[in-house]
Amino acid sequence: MSVTEISHRSKWFDDIINDAKERIERILKLDEKFHVLFIQGGASMQFCMIPMNFLSKENVADYVNTGTWSTKAIKEAVILDKKVNIVASSEDRDFTYIPRNIRFSSDSSYVHITSNNTIKGTQWASFPDTGGVPLIADMSSDIMSRQLDMNKFGLIYAGAQKNIGPAGVCMVIIHDDMLELVQENLPSMLDYTIYSSKNSLLFQKFNV
Ligand SMILES: Cc1ncc(COP(=O)(O)O)c(C=O)c1O
Repeated sequence: MSVTEISHRSKWFDDIINDAKERIERILKLDEKFHVLFIQGGASMQFCMIPMNFLSKENVADYVNTGTWSTKAIKEAVILDKKVNIVASSEDRDFTYIPRNIRFSSDSSYVHITSNNTIKGTQWASFPDTGGVPLIADMSSDIMSRQLDMNKFGLIYAGAQKNIGPAGVCMVIIHDDMLELVQENLPSMLDYTIYSSKNSLLFQKFNV
């Protein structure tokens, strides 16, 4: 039987998901403060999960707009009526550069960037200093293509289909500290703490 035919509640599948996690931890040199999650909905789902999990009505988040995918991430946060601060954008020159000398807000809950904007081809060569504000990066199109200092990030995510796996699943790596910031009363399927506590196998929650 192939992986698509076996139960995701089976010991066989436990071995597969745990092996995938261990490989990611080894390749990206993650310490135990980071949790590797697998979430449905592709990278696009993260565009809404991130503001839902980390922004209350009062909090604000900084976004850097470097192309199509950053624009989509911003739009999803705005649809949710969250406060978004676009601290820098390269839209004036059709997203052909990465903005420099960005002044991040000291009171924002996170800074969101897109490490490589697939369509426009703008890639951050090095990652910005956010002054202690957690950095969140959409790495869908360059994950595993270079060494990363994960200590710079609170959360990274990558739709798997480009560099690491099948379409539809998104790999999310989240730091312990970010799990502490998750808002209450989120639907289970949109709550990072549930994924983290259930090894990304959510249905177990209902096994009472
Ligand atoms: C940088 C970036 N972010 C997000 C996405 C959307 O990914 P998904 O199709 O997994 O929702 C893509 C897809 O091409 C992408 O290149």
